[in-house]
Amino acid sequence: MKPIKVGLLGLGTVGTGVVRIVEGHQEDLTNQVGSPIVIAQILVKDRAKARNIQVDASKLTEDPWEVVRNPDIDVIIEVMGGIGQTKEYILEALERGKHIVTANKDLMALHGQEILAKARDKGCDVYYEASVAGGIPIIRTLIEGFSSDRITKIMGIVNGTTNYILTKMSQEGAAYADVLKEAQDLGYAEGDPTSDVEGLDAARKMTILSTLGFRSHVSLEDVSAKGISSVTQEDIQYAKRLGYEVKLLGIAERQDDFISVSVQPTMIKQSHPIASVNGVFNAVYVHGEAVGETMFYGAGAGELPTATSIVADLVAVVKNMKLGVNGRQAQLSYNVMKLKTDEQIASKFFLLLHVEDRAGVLAQIAQVFSDCDVSIESVMQPSAPNKMSTEIIIITHEASKASMNKVLGAFEGLAAVRKIKSVYRVEG
Ligand code: NAP
Ligand code: HSE
Repeated sequence: MKPIKVGLLGLGTVGTGVVRIVEGHQEDLTNQVGSPIVIAQILVKDRAKARNIQVDASKLTEDPWEVVRNPDIDVIIEVMGGIGQTKEYILEALERGKHIVTANKDLMALHGQEILAKARDKGCDVYYEASVAGGIPIIRTLIEGFSSDRITKIMGIVNGTTNYILTKMSQEGAAYADVLKEAQDLGYAEGDPTSDVEGLDAARKMTILSTLGFRSHVSLEDVSAKGISSVTQEDIQYAKRLGYEVKLLGIAERQDDFISVSVQPTMIKQSHPIASVNGVFNAVYVHGEAVGETMFYGAGAGELPTATSIVADLVAVVKNMKLGVNGRQAQLSYNVMKLKTDEQIASKFFLLLHVEDRAGVLAQIAQVFSDCDVSIESVMQPSAPNKMSTEIIIITHEASKASMNKVLGAFEGLAAVRKIKSVYRVEG
């Protein structure tokens, strides 16, 4: 049996897991695909670096072109990260007829269309299961499992770092800055955690999920993203008193030919299954017109969970090779959806206001809601420690984003409202 030869770009956390699984599960893999799989060459930045896995030193190279231009290699697994140069390596490998498996959500969110188009031209496969929610097979599920249904909503905890931080803040009362430092020390958050905590990592993953779920191209600019750096302990405690948890949720919704995709800290009812997804775990809730509610849960990152998805993609590529059907993946973005306007995007909202504590203030606030046609579901005014100002917490009934923006604008001009402390979307 002629072995299938793989070129591995990167031998960090995920690359190490890929080597462990390909070597450790060799017999099972060979039985499934009918050929042994061999990691033939590995790109690293520094060949001399100490590694926590033993690999044949002659396979290591610091020259990317040596791997992508190697005529013996059938499949490239890209787990080096990065966007600009990495895209060049992938396009060159496709040009030479090699199939691609990648874990790179940044690359797929920004350049997925171009890479997939090139793959189609060249009759090659590109699989990217590990790019969203690490070990959860959500991409295959959206493409294949939901092929017969029309997806109306995808709601995901797709960033483990921020879920870890929010879980610690909720369960232990810890302050944001302290837990962020802990997440960095534990290696969950990057040294520069901006992409995680400001919602960009989740936005890139939601770009991929919504494109697949709605079968319509969604670009990163279509996704509005807000992170968790402004979430306070006070917000979390009020949420809990009202029966909610604060989670960084990616939310993609479809109504007829209109969609919206966003990432934001959201108050979610404690009774919703996604509210109990804690720590670094990920979960993706999918609602389909026919199937109703479904949810997928598991490790969103880490060496072996992520490598599991990558090697499953490799198995798919090799099976396609045996059948001679590489590059024949169906065109997935055949719909042309329009983005919803702020008038069309609707949800409940939570508001925490600092207001003057005197007669008539609540009436003024209620009048603003009435003028903007936003209906109030509940109001809470905790007893104030000083007599000059107090906090008011309001949860609205479902209202459009545009109406809510009008309410917030009106509060800016209302002397009795000293500060709009927090505003959250409410789900569940
Ligand atoms: P990592 O630990 O930083 O490893 C990156 C590897 O690529 C290292 O072996 C490094 O070489 C090599 N590399 C990087 N730039 C290179 C260059 N310019 N030339 C040659 N080699 C280069 O990264 P990772 O955590 O494994 O992540 C890899 C990819 O998987 C990223 O796209 C990431 O977003 C994605 N991903 C990661 C996870 C996770 O749990 N970590 C989960 C899902 C997706 P040296 O070893 O010599 O430094
Ligand atoms: N930084 C990401 C997270 C890693 O925290 O979920 C997986 O993409």
